[in-house]
Amino acid sequence: MTFSQDFIDKVRDANNIVDLFSEFTQLKRSGGRLMGLCPFPGHNEKTPSFSVSEDKQVYHCFGCQRSGQIFTALKELKGLNFPEAVEHLANRAGIMLPAEHASTRIKPEVKSRKEKLFKLNSISAEVLHNQLLDLPNDHYAKKYCQTRKLSADIINTFQIGYAPNQWDTLVNHLNAIKAPLSMAAELGLIRKRKEGDGYFDLFRDRLMFPIYSHKGECVGFGGRAFTDEQMPKYLNSPESEIFSKGHTFYGLNETAKYIRTENSVIIVEGYMDLVALYAAGIKNVVATLGTALTPNHARLIKRYSQNVIVLFDGDEAGQKAAVRSLPVLLEEDLLPKAILLPDQMDPDDFINEKGVSTLQEILKSAPDLFSVVLDRYLRDYRGSSADKIVLLNEVSPLMAVMKDSRLKDLYIAEIAQKISVEPSWVSKNIGTPSTRANLAENRHPVTPEMPKDVIGKGARITLEGASRAELFLLNIALMSSERFNAIWQSEIIDNMTHIGVREMFVKAQGYHRQMPNEFDKLSANLMTLTDNPKALALYLGEPMCSMTAEALDKLMNDCIRQVKEKFFRNQTRELAASLRNSPQEERLEKLEQIMNIQKSKHTLRRDRES
Ligand code: UTP
Ligand code: MN
Repeated sequence: MTFSQDFIDKVRDANNIVDLFSEFTQLKRSGGRLMGLCPFPGHNEKTPSFSVSEDKQVYHCFGCQRSGQIFTALKELKGLNFPEAVEHLANRAGIMLPAEHASTRIKPEVKSRKEKLFKLNSISAEVLHNQLLDLPNDHYAKKYCQTRKLSADIINTFQIGYAPNQWDTLVNHLNAIKAPLSMAAELGLIRKRKEGDGYFDLFRDRLMFPIYSHKGECVGFGGRAFTDEQMPKYLNSPESEIFSKGHTFYGLNETAKYIRTENSVIIVEGYMDLVALYAAGIKNVVATLGTALTPNHARLIKRYSQNVIVLFDGDEAGQKAAVRSLPVLLEEDLLPKAILLPDQMDPDDFINEKGVSTLQEILKSAPDLFSVVLDRYLRDYRGSSADKIVLLNEVSPLMAVMKDSRLKDLYIAEIAQKISVEPSWVSKNIGTPSTRANLAENRHPVTPEMPKDVIGKGARITLEGASRAELFLLNIALMSSERFNAIWQSEIIDNMTHIGVREMFVKAQGYHRQMPNEFDKLSANLMTLTDNPKALALYLGEPMCSMTAEALDKLMNDCIRQVKEKFFRNQTRELAASLRNSPQEERLEKLEQIMNIQKSKHTLRRDRES
């Protein structure tokens, strides 16, 4: 039973190795990596020696020497084999398994625990929904719904509820059905009393919005206050085993079908924005949950449509959110447009004041989000050369994450026109080293692609017995595309003696050429090829992980020199050996070769000493 390569890639792209390990150990950023206590069974440690690279999606433990990528991680953590790991990660990311895999082989208790948590939420949603329906019409919660134009239809569609101003509405219901209260507490529905052994409700006197995952599981709640005095305005379920704001869109389970038929999705920032648009007949909408748009969000939405319109408030916060969402959306190859509403209005206010047809008009002619962001960057632009460089620095990180070269060319033309330069000047100067640093900050993880030729096969390249210098060079090459190219172009690979290291370089060069924009995926790819993945994780450890660029340069040059010296030594030895058995006429030629090698050796030594 095997999965298609495309499916495996999709699953891998939808998961982040850091999220996975964060469930098992606390990771802290340290240098270019994350460090924590080793989460693997059988390795109990008191000081952290476990490291993960988020950029490269690989891990290595300097204590127990285990290394690998996300699929091997699941093998170590949960004892899953490759197909099980794929299945597990697919479930985790909400990706449907291909029909022939429908029967699940994941350990049943993992599934049923989650199912219980979903069930607890959905029972609670139902209870609170009924509370709202049962209220008399003159109750303030019902009146609030009227002023917010929440019709009976809308209340039903979104299962909107009311948490009464009492301490035990949910507790009593859950008790009555003998539900596990400790699990309800994990979900943030109720909390254990400090004294005695009872529980009390956490959502009190709030209008309740149940939050469903795109698969229709009830994962959490947002509860809105009825008055401005009541704080916070929205009380949300805490993040839990089944709820992560960065992976969830409010409304998607209901609006997915409209997003598909319209082939376009409008992203708004709040529960009420989504509901208001939906009620007005604009139904291809999703809402973030009061947090920034994440790469996971972008990947999730991409499954429904490539055409995205962000519809945010026009205030400073909305503008900033729009700017931040641009690279996230571009990196997933989406085609983002944007509307920033005028005069501090949110979508709900806008519909109420200007009418839905006005909003529809605006949406129809929405400009690219890129143009909106560019205009914002141009606010302080006065046309000086310095201004041009500043602008270039601002747009470079955006250009660097773009995969669609057609769109990129159009954006470059737009930049060029706005700052009165040739497009070629822009394309030549974006992504120069000085702007790379900006990029690293905004960078999100890219998950690696499985090399096409290794899935499920046993063929492994051995790195046993490789010299320190050759392994260091391989690791330095994996640190950045620039270093990789420098080492590859130095042709030092021809002088390497270890066949496995050479093979790794050749494979790496092949992948790098095919996927030049996905350099970070290289490490995890190569790890799947070798019997000794830890030999590719040296850069996660000391000394390499904390070296300055200069120190790395020096290390690189030292290693190149050592490789060359060894190469010359071997050559001399071979020639000397064959010299003994050679006929007279060949001897002279071989002696000359040996002398040339000696000369190169001397040059090498002189270089080092100078
Ligand atoms: P808004 O304040 O814009 O709320 O916050 P809203 O959804 O438009 O609601 P109304 O129209 O003012 O009643 C946008 C989103 O930010 C999150 C919620 O997800 C909200 O929908 N938020 C806001 C919180 O989580 N907590 C808060 O206290 C406020
Ligand atoms: Mn609002």
